[in-house]
Amino acid sequence: MAKSDLLSIIAYIRTLKPIKNKIPERQLMIPISMAYPAPALQPSVDANVAPPESDKVKYGEYLVNFADCSTCHTPFVKGQPDFSRAFAGGNTFNLASFKVTTANITPDSATGLGTWTEERF
Ligand code: HEC
Repeated sequence: MAKSDLLSIIAYIRTLKPIKNKIPERQLMIPISMAYPAPALQPSVDANVAPPESDKVKYGEYLVNFADCSTCHTPFVKGQPDFSRAFAGGNTFNLASFKVTTANITPDSATGLGTWTEERF
């Protein structure tokens, strides 16, 4: 993500009203805990450049990549993402109080976003 976008997100979050919420101590699972504190990622955010918004394809790719849409919206087969069906949805998150399944966000008109207007999206 380009530094200007990162700073915009931080600025937006700082406009939100704080809520009182008791948060439990963070407990990282092994092996994640072994990787923390994480080393600084290279290259640093200063090196990231956003493509011009006028290039809709490149700008869309940039947004999709930094927001990591694919991780949730690409179906998994035997624990691996099936990139032949990238963005086809179908992953079910089984949370304690409810289940939710990711939507198909491909341009397919029958099952995806093909008939959506830009405004609806
Ligand atoms: C952490 C997982 C996760 C990520 C990351 C994620 N989504 Fe989703 N998305 C979901 C889930 C779960 C649903 C289904 C929600 C529901 O049915 O209430 C959903 C639904 C949607 C929908 C359908 C909404 C509707 O009204 O039918 C769209 C469009 C969408 N996501 C787009 C995106 C885009 C674009 C990105 C990246 C910018 C993204 N999502 C990233 C989990 C994710």
